[in-house]
Amino acid sequence: MPDSPRTPGERPAGARAFDALTAERGILFGGDYNPEQWPRDTWREDVELMQRAGVNVVTVGVFSWAMLEPTPGAREFGWLDEVLDLLHAGGISVDLATPTASPPPWLGVRHPETLPVDPDGVRLVAGSRNQFAPASRVYREAALAITRDLAERYRDHPAVRMWHVGNEFGQLDYGDEAARAFRDWLSARYGTIEALNEAWATAFWSQRYADFDEILPPRRAPYLINPTQSLDFRRYTSDELRACYLELRDAIRDTGAHQPITTNFMGPFHHADYWSWADEVDVISDDQYPDPADPDAPADIAFAQDLMRGLGGGAPWVLMEQAISAVQWRGHNLPKTPARARLDSLQAVARGADGISFFQWRQSRAGAERFHSGMLPHAGADTEVFAGVCRQGADLQRLRPVVGSRVAARTALLFDWSSWWAADEPARPTTRLTTLEQVQRWYRSLWRRNVPVDVVAHGADLTGYDLVVVPHSYVLEPPAAAALIAAAEHGAQVVIGPFSGVADVNGHILQGRSPVQLRGLVGASGEEWAGLPDAGAAVDLAGLTVAGAATAGILAEKLRSDGAEVLASFADGDLAGRPVVTRNAAGAGSAWYVGAVLGDDLLDAVLAEALAAAGVDGIRPEPSAEAATAAVEAVRRGDALFLLNRGDTPAQVRVPGEWVDLLTDETTDNLVTIAPWDARVLMERHHS
Ligand code: GLA
Repeated sequence: MPDSPRTPGERPAGARAFDALTAERGILFGGDYNPEQWPRDTWREDVELMQRAGVNVVTVGVFSWAMLEPTPGAREFGWLDEVLDLLHAGGISVDLATPTASPPPWLGVRHPETLPVDPDGVRLVAGSRNQFAPASRVYREAALAITRDLAERYRDHPAVRMWHVGNEFGQLDYGDEAARAFRDWLSARYGTIEALNEAWATAFWSQRYADFDEILPPRRAPYLINPTQSLDFRRYTSDELRACYLELRDAIRDTGAHQPITTNFMGPFHHADYWSWADEVDVISDDQYPDPADPDAPADIAFAQDLMRGLGGGAPWVLMEQAISAVQWRGHNLPKTPARARLDSLQAVARGADGISFFQWRQSRAGAERFHSGMLPHAGADTEVFAGVCRQGADLQRLRPVVGSRVAARTALLFDWSSWWAADEPARPTTRLTTLEQVQRWYRSLWRRNVPVDVVAHGADLTGYDLVVVPHSYVLEPPAAAALIAAAEHGAQVVIGPFSGVADVNGHILQGRSPVQLRGLVGASGEEWAGLPDAGAAVDLAGLTVAGAATAGILAEKLRSDGAEVLASFADGDLAGRPVVTRNAAGAGSAWYVGAVLGDDLLDAVLAEALAAAGVDGIRPEPSAEAATAAVEAVRRGDALFLLNRGDTPAQVRVPGEWVDLLTDETTDNLVTIAPWDARVLMERHHS
């Protein structure tokens, strides 16, 4: 297994503080708690019900700025003192949030420059939330001031065991302060305007700049925007948001606060390059809202969870927010059954979470989230929802033995934000190929086989993996390309998806037959990427077996083999006879090249072959008389084996050895049955 960048022994102090917290309290369990929405007499009931449910930590204060600072410079901490004391007396720890995600209305009224501006120049106003411009100096000062005072006051409060900076950093701003900050960012990146002109290829369309002062964010323009300008603005935006986070984090630390500090990520969220944030949080935390109506949701959430584990270098992470039942923000919102909600939480634990938390504790009775579920619904504690919450609390207490343990994977999947941004810029061969969708399609195929996957950054050392998949890495910088070559040399099967290695760091197209840097590795090369007709194309197979249709569609490369074995080629159309999938012996391993967007069945066949060649497989349920494919997700975390059945029929899994189910204390051997919509968490019994 590749060494994790943070092996347990050498975790930084903040991460160790998180480990100490979970060692003491077990898996963290709770939710966002917004007592400011409720009269005081509900607070006591909240604590009692939290205790009943097994809640041990709640996030407080995320949207409390206007309550803490009702007028400029005022401080109203009394109510928060009371809440924290009450929670502490009840044995509930607190993840205390800086209230900085939503400034009070007075800030925007007095200082309109603190408000964000959209690409059309429209200034957004208060009345919702998140109305701040990340680059605004006045906003930053105000956020710092309230954060310092909050941290000074509560750094030693015994309830406070974690800090939560802001909320879901993701604001976009195209205003004048953003323009100023963007120019500073560009000047630091490029040094001279000549270097910027080169990187942005401004010889095109008379875009040459004489001075940094002429540069604007990519606001509304008559026609297509310079793609490198746009790419750099995305990089700048992620960095500016990160700077906001860092400033607040450091302000908390500077007061002497010793608790772990985090901010909640949003899975594969487009506007923040979390690889560049990951080392700055003491524990990775994430918000996940699978849509119960979407059959792909369990797989796509598993991808987000593996990404979170990857961001933390394999360390435990926290599921900071999820819904216990329905959300209110989709057009049509299906609730989760308590059984589904339970499996969603157990899935996160299986994939490395040491904290399971919800938005929110008590369902709001008013405001824009009045129809968003809460752990304690409008109907109160005498509900199936609340009974489900209590059951989850009890389950998680039983899972204490998995705390701190890790998931091991022999398969790596590459995922990178800059490449995603550059690939998804407008004006490309097809808008039907999008990075996230391709990554998810490839991941789902591995997920259905229960293959453990590490999601890794471009350029990471891949030499310990047996299988490396690159679903769609449009930009592969030289270190990332070199890591792929090294992985194959060390014996890995490296599978490179379509339209990868096309552009450089600035999004400029590499010159030569593609994939320019990887031609030697893949033993094949192409001269042009072209959209395929809507009907797609049939594919002839040589050396692959496909259960279903062998097709390709959307985009294909005019490819030739330069020595690689051709496993599939176009059966008809303009590209008839040309290779679609090739395999090339490389070092001790092989490089597979996929020169088109493959249909689901063909993609599945290619990955199955590559897995077989790598000697990698996942735990699969026994064939079942009742269901053609039993829906069991199997994940090994440390010594525990999680088996989650999202199917309507019982499933069985062969588990050689003797096991005890942590959820029930039942012992089992060899063949274990998982009831419909139920889970097993088996711990191997070692005989001494
Ligand atoms: C986000 C926010 C929460 C809440 C939920 C609703 O995750 O962080 O404050 O609005 O969405 O799903």
